[in-house]
Amino acid sequence: MLVLGIESSCDETGVALYDSVRGLLAHALYSQIAMHNDYGGVVPELASRDHIRRVLPLTRQVLAESGCALEALDGIAYTQGPGLAGALLVGAGMARALAFSLDIPAVGVHHLEGHMLSPLISDTPPEFPFVALLVSGGHTQLMLVLGVGRYTLLGETLDDAAGEAFDKTAQLLGLGYPGGPALSKLAAAGDASRFTLPRPMLNSGDFDFSFSGLKTAVLTLVRKQGLDQAADIAAAFQVAAVDVLVSKSLAACVHSGVTRLVVAGGVGANTHLRERLTREAAARGISVFYPRLEFCTDNGAMIAYAGAQRLATHRKTSDLTFAVKPRWELATLDAM
Ligand code: KG4
Ligand code: ZN
Repeated sequence: MLVLGIESSCDETGVALYDSVRGLLAHALYSQIAMHNDYGGVVPELASRDHIRRVLPLTRQVLAESGCALEALDGIAYTQGPGLAGALLVGAGMARALAFSLDIPAVGVHHLEGHMLSPLISDTPPEFPFVALLVSGGHTQLMLVLGVGRYTLLGETLDDAAGEAFDKTAQLLGLGYPGGPALSKLAAAGDASRFTLPRPMLNSGDFDFSFSGLKTAVLTLVRKQGLDQAADIAAAFQVAAVDVLVSKSLAACVHSGVTRLVVAGGVGANTHLRERLTREAAARGISVFYPRLEFCTDNGAMIAYAGAQRLATHRKTSDLTFAVKPRWELATLDAM
C-alpha cells in the first residue's frame, strides 16, 4: 500500500511517501524555524500561511523523487492533532481534498503516535511490547506500548515539557529559538559539575515529571552569575534534565517487565541523552531504539508510516467532512 503522509501541526511542513512493502520511498521537509526566530517562538498565523505555501510543492517533490504518479496512491495520512488548529487545518484540508479527488481513503493521524512509531521505520525495528519515552517540545510522556493503538500512559510531565524546558533555558542563556540544539552544543563546551541544579521528582516513586522548577533554578543562577558561565550553566541544566529522563525511563521498563525502550520526539536527538540512556540501559539488559536523527523532530515520514498501519485495517473512501483536534489524548486512540 502506497501512502502519502502530511505533517503540518506546528512549524515544519513534512511530506513523505511510504510503501508497506518497499518502505520509505521519499520524504521532504520545510522548516519555518528561521521565520519564527525573529519572534522568539512560533507565531501560529504565520505558521498556517507558510504551510499553505509549502505543502503542494513538497508533495510534488516526493512524488517526483520516488517516480510515483499521484494515481498510484492508495491512501493519504495527515496529522489531525494535537497541534495548532490553523496549521493542522492546512494539512487536513489538502489531504482530504486530494483523497476525495482520487477516490481513496484519508486518515487523520495522532502526531504523538507518529513520533512513537517513528523508530519502526527501520530495517531492524523493535518488537512490541516496548516502553516509549516521548520527549518533544509540547509533550513528555512515558507510555507502555503493546501494539499499534494499544497505549497505556505510565506518567507524564505535570508542567513544562522537556523540549520546552530546553527552549526556555536556552532563551535565558541568550540562545535563539528553538533552543534545544543550541543549548546542547553550548553544554558540550561547559563543565557540568561547576553548578548543581535540582532533579525535580527524581525520587517521587512514580513516572511523572516536572521541569518548571529546573527552569526557575536556571533563572536564579543566571541572575546571580550573569552569562559569563553560560556554557557551565547549560551543561548543569542538561545533565539534570537527562538524569531525570534516564532514571524514570529505565524504572518504567523495569516496572513493566519490558526490555525494549523507544525514544521519540525532538529531545531524542540530544546526544547526551542518547549516550547516557544507551549505556545505562545496556547495564540493565534493556535495548534502546531511536528514530533516524532526522525523524526525531517533526517530519512527514512518521505520519505516512503511522497512517499506513491504520489504513491497513481502515480503508473506507473519504468524504469531504473532517475536523482537526488541537487537543487529543494519545491513550484514547483505538487499538488495531
Ligand atoms: O518533536 P518536535 O520536533 O516538535 C514537537 O512536536 O514539539 O520537538 C521539538 C523540540 C524543541 O523543544 C527542541 O528544542 C527540542 O525538541 N530539541 C532538542 C534537540 N533537538 C531538538 N532538545 C535537546 N537537544 C537537542 N539536540
Ligand atoms: Zn512533534
